[in-house]
Amino acid sequence: MIPSLSRVPTVRLTKPIVLVGLMGAGKTTVGRRLAQRLRVPFFDADEQIEEAANMRVSDFFETYGEAAFRDGERKVIERLLDGPVHVLATGGGAFMNERTRALVKARAHSVWLKADLDLLVKRTSNRNTRPLLRQGDPREILGRLLKEREPVYALADFTVSSMEGPHGRTVDRILKALNAHQKAGKAL
Ligand code: S3P
Repeated sequence: MIPSLSRVPTVRLTKPIVLVGLMGAGKTTVGRRLAQRLRVPFFDADEQIEEAANMRVSDFFETYGEAAFRDGERKVIERLLDGPVHVLATGGGAFMNERTRALVKARAHSVWLKADLDLLVKRTSNRNTRPLLRQGDPREILGRLLKEREPVYALADFTVSSMEGPHGRTVDRILKALNAHQKAGKAL
């Protein structure tokens, strides 16, 4: 047996994995790597919305408003969840929408990438493309969203810490959690 491979937990998916959590939690980067490790396709919901609407998320917010964005977001997620098994990174507000959350809970395994405020502020400070963070002081906004959203993110099937350091470690933690679930005789 190749020693390095023996440490990689085997996970057999029958449903998509959906990553949820606040802006800056690492959903896209972690999701892309997780998909590679699981050898399934990766999708980013924001990217898919931008493609479908042919405009940036920030422009969509400005032109049509947040309610229309949430509607489009739900439709895009529904279409993706109808497809073959994959890893999906959602925008931070997607799981907050009751209908989107019900959809994700019914058709996928949800994983909350939990990160603390300092890390979220640090990770979101490098680009100024997120419409919600342009409305005031990013730390204050993220702090408020964290308080509001944590109880809802906690409804995800799995909670995995996203910490400072390589994203690969977060991927390892997700794989471990999925593997433990499978080992306990529960289907993935
Ligand atoms: C949002 C998060 C963003 C994007 C939009 C709204 C939110 O996605 O969907 O700006 O409500 O938290 P990321 O979490 O990928 O930054």
